[in-house]
Amino acid sequence: MAKPFLKWAGGKGRLAPLIAERAPKRIARYHEPFLGGGAVFFALQERGLVGEASLADRNADLMATYEAVRDDVEGVIAALGELSRQYLSREPSQRGLYYYEVRDRRRPRAAARKAARLLFLNKTCYNGLYRVNSKGHFNVPHGRYVRPTILDEERLRTARASLANAELRAEDFAEACGRARRGDFVYLDPPYRPLSATSAFTKYTSADFGFGDQVRLRDAFDDLTARGVPALLSNSSHPEIHELYREYDMELVPMGRAINSNGKGRAPIDELLVSNLSLVEGAASGAAPGRSRA
Ligand SMILES: C[S@@+](CC[C@H](N)C(=O)[O-])C[C@H]1O[C@@H](n2cnc3c(N)ncnc32)[C@H](O)[C@@H]1O
Repeated sequence: MAKPFLKWAGGKGRLAPLIAERAPKRIARYHEPFLGGGAVFFALQERGLVGEASLADRNADLMATYEAVRDDVEGVIAALGELSRQYLSREPSQRGLYYYEVRDRRRPRAAARKAARLLFLNKTCYNGLYRVNSKGHFNVPHGRYVRPTILDEERLRTARASLANAELRAEDFAEACGRARRGDFVYLDPPYRPLSATSAFTKYTSADFGFGDQVRLRDAFDDLTARGVPALLSNSSHPEIHELYREYDMELVPMGRAINSNGKGRAPIDELLVSNLSLVEGAASGAAPGRSRA
């Protein structure tokens, strides 16, 4: 089973089966312009829905890591194995020191070692967050895992096989969407519009994804629709997002997660799945898109 090899904020592992159900049955080329941990790509791949793929994210270090896994997985495994041994051989109270040493020393040049560093930091940092400061330096503190699995060789090798036919690019979503054609399928998972000022962490890369970007993304979605390219998009169920996509089919997907609402118990959170499939000719999906106007 190919699975994500990174922890990533907003990982879509749980939504993946639902997206696979709604995706067109025949996909000439699969596009995922906000790749992150790639949970949906790996899930569709596993179901045999994806042959060729164009995968992109604006985070260049992230995309370079995918590239190194695709092109030199054994080199990545060797370099990550070394970091993992060094870390785990230390007393738990000393591991933080080693983490900061790796995080703050000069970044390696070789692609495999660079990727191994990102993977190491991802598995040992606080909550698998990815955050950089204004100089582009990774600045997440050490995490609190007792015995993290830093190197999973099988997972990396399986991922490599899934990535063999994938084109990888570090770019903005607008460029990535521009490359999609009729007969392809696009899944978009942008940083979500926060439901409240404090509820979401939207700084995935050094530049924010603000409301202007949400509007730009809706324009890209309109453009895909006009060109006959089937697409699904997830976002938070925020009134502004409902408004942006009011011309489209929307489905509320319960995420099971719960937050405390005003201290009065826990309310489940819904996410929004937007679809243009009923508007795009010939985009027969595995399941009818939810018609409930959310
Ligand atoms: C919600 S995450 C995607 C999570 C992914 N679906 C998963 O399962 O792990 C959003 C991603 O969008 C990327 N991103 C932010 N702004 C972007 C932009 N303008 N163009 C392309 N990618 C962007 C971030 O780097 C981040 O990886």
